[in-house]
Amino acid sequence: MVEIAPSILSADFARLGEEIAAAERGGATVVHCDVMDGHFVPNLTIGLPVIKSLRRATRLPLDTHLMISEPGRYAEQFVDAGANMVSVHVEVDAHLNRTLMAIKNKGAKAGVVINPATPLSTLEEALDVADYVLVMSVNPGFGGQKFIPSVLDKVRRLRRMIAERGLTVRIEIDGGVDRTNIGEVTAAGAEIIVAGTAVFGVGDPAQGVRDLLDASTTVASGK
Ligand code: DX5
Ligand code: ZN
Repeated sequence: MVEIAPSILSADFARLGEEIAAAERGGATVVHCDVMDGHFVPNLTIGLPVIKSLRRATRLPLDTHLMISEPGRYAEQFVDAGANMVSVHVEVDAHLNRTLMAIKNKGAKAGVVINPATPLSTLEEALDVADYVLVMSVNPGFGGQKFIPSVLDKVRRLRRMIAERGLTVRIEIDGGVDRTNIGEVTAAGAEIIVAGTAVFGVGDPAQGVRDLLDASTTVASGK
């Protein structure tokens, strides 16, 4: 089943509660929250206080994507703040197993995030611990970037890798997904689709989510 996870990075931060409610009316089932530290990525966004406030503003699961240099130091605090899913970049955590276990022990889903140029082989030893893999289809840091098409094959290979190992790890994808490519993305094997611009940049977030859901079952011809 395909789930749409609107990224609040492209929402109006002064009206987050309303923006999320609108996306939920359109069928969104997860709220994607991009946490950036200005160090691992060249941008600063939100942190624990915003997650705490969002926890009171919506009943949807909060999916926190940690783009920070020391995720192990903060991961559990995000669960305490109300996050239901916490994902950590494979590129920065020297103690990935420990961080993933800590997130799970707190009762949240633990995810591993992989940048466009990071090979799938880096997931070998983490795959059986993770609940989901977040495949980046842009270089993290900003909303509104162009989808990197080579990531589609990576999603297909990851899907095979998970199946071959008999695991139930879910695949989430993040960056540049819109109505024109969501069909290919879901056909490749992604189940949780993050979308910022395609939801909050189109005027009506509810309609943005509906359009994505409609397009998610259609693969462009010839592809
Ligand atoms: C990028 C973030 C994304 C971003 C997606 O670093 O992780 O979640 O907000 O935005 P769009 O859908 O506009 O590419
Ligand atoms: Zn993200």
